[in-house]
This record gives sequence, structure tokens and C-alpha cells, in this order.
Amino acid sequence: MERTLIIFKPDAVNRMLVGRILARFEDKGLRIVAMKFQQSPREQVERHYAVHKERPFYGSLVEFMTSGPVLLAVLEGPGAIEVVRNLLGATDGREAAPGTIRGDFGLDKQYNLVHASDGPDTARNEIALFFSPEEIVEYTRAPDGWIVSK
Ligand code: CMP
Repeated sequence: MERTLIIFKPDAVNRMLVGRILARFEDKGLRIVAMKFQQSPREQVERHYAVHKERPFYGSLVEFMTSGPVLLAVLEGPGAIEVVRNLLGATDGREAAPGTIRGDFGLDKQYNLVHASDGPDTARNEIALFFSPEEIVEYTRAPDGWIVSK
């Protein structure tokens, strides 16, 4: 089992796409193990995107990510990190394949609806940045045995 952090960005919230996008993750069989709706503090966003600090879009990215509320979630499943990134599609909605979330709902590189962790170390650090261990819920669902074989 793997966990990944996703952020429904302010464009997803303002465009009222959160429910439809979340349904895609649930439809795939991924398990929601944590969720939080918040207006992100600037320092937290700066830490989250510290790896992009030298990029020309960093300032505008921080502005965007603090411009309105976001929904944070931790999703769990086998290979969840890659599964979620494949569901999202390419960073730029114009290039993302039809059928992916960004390919179906977006046209922009910055306003790309959802952030997802890009590897196991990043996932661990990002989950720890936004959630305390007590906020992550371990449970099983009745259909789990029909989603992943033994
Ligand atoms: P995300 O997966 O959250 O990781 C970094 C974010 O920076 C990315 O999604 C986009 O929202 C944004 N981004 C990446 N490249 C560019 C770019 N060239 N111009 C503007 N924003 C970008």
C-alpha cells in the first residue's frame, strides 16, 4: 500500500470541480485516509513548493495557491503515487491526454486543478507537512476485497 498527497487547487474549488474530480479517485478504488479544507498559510505553500523557488513561475504559483481555499487529501492504494499522476495527466492541460483529469478539465499549466506527490520521498514529506499522524485514518471498506485481489 502506498500513500500520496493531493491538493485540489483554488481553481478546482472555484470552478466547482472538486466533487467530480474526487469521484474519479474513488471510482479508481483509491481510499481516502485524510482530508482537510483550508486557506493555506503562505509559509506552508512556500515550503511545499520550495523545490521550485528559483523557477520564474514560483512567485505567481505561491500567489495562486494562497488566493483561495484548497482541499487537501491523502489517498491510499497499491502504487497510489503513479496511479494518481496517471489519472491527472501532463502538467499542462493543453498537453494532457483526453480522459485524464487535466486533459478533460483544464487548459493551463498553472491552473492545473490538482497537485499530487511525484515520488515516495516527496509523498512522505508532503503528507507530514499538511497532516499530523493522528489526522490519518486507517480503516478498510467493505468492497476492498473486490478492488485488489489477494
Ligand atoms: P504542481 O504539480 O502543483 O507542481 C508545481 C506547479 O507549478 C505545477 O503543478 C503547476 O501548477 C505550476 N507550474 C509548473 N510549470 C509551470 C509553468 N511553466 N508556468 C506556470 N506554472 C507552472
